[in-house]
Amino acid sequence: QPDPAAAFKQQSAIQAASLVQTGMAVGLGTGSTAKFVVAELGRRIREEGLRITAIPTSIVTEKQAREEGIPLTTFGQQPELDIAIDGADEIEPATLNLIKGLGGALLWEKIVAAAAAQFVVVADASKYVDHLGLRCPLPVEVIPFGWENAARKLGHLGAQVTPRRMRDGSFFLTDEKNLILDCVFPAIMEPEKLSADLHAIVGVVEHGLFLHMATQTITAGPEGIRVLTP
Ligand code: A5P
Repeated sequence: QPDPAAAFKQQSAIQAASLVQTGMAVGLGTGSTAKFVVAELGRRIREEGLRITAIPTSIVTEKQAREEGIPLTTFGQQPELDIAIDGADEIEPATLNLIKGLGGALLWEKIVAAAAAQFVVVADASKYVDHLGLRCPLPVEVIPFGWENAARKLGHLGAQVTPRRMRDGSFFLTDEKNLILDCVFPAIMEPEKLSADLHAIVGVVEHGLFLHMATQTITAGPEGIRVLTP
């Protein structure tokens, strides 16, 4: 079914892709907005002779990048990236703190964002929230073994916890074959503290709070394109 925000996602994606220049190493995000970035970079490679190397944030994005003819590299060859461009599920405009991971790719996404000199977030304007946690659950990636205990501890932090499942009822597995626990917290007012508390739970691999990582957000909506920096 058609996505009413698709045109806005594409506008923000094309604007962000214009920041990419020949010679750059680029992190490629995951999701319906990042998909437009990968498509635009493929177009620029074919039509404008853009030369880049890239690291994808998921197996799905890797496949799209190969189809677009984008040369891929690894952190073994390319420890640092010039830029990473990715979507987000929530953006707090005052801080540019984010929630990511509704697509399940948060672990690789965070590794890629952490390696990038510039981390540019692309989204339609509906992703803005006054406080993180208002619009969507916080995804927490956990090791399958003993996940029930990790879930209990997340409950003690105040979350309502639901393991993410596929339509057929089986567990959703990430690219690293871990589980995602979707955690509904009341508005997240102290994200740094929550991040530390989450990392202190044995079995938690990573979570979807991306704090002080975005160097720029580019959003598009009925009012046009809006660029924010911290
Ligand atoms: C993937 O795990 C997510 O972090 C995505 O970046 C996020 O869900 C944004 O996706 P959309 O651009 O499809 O909204």
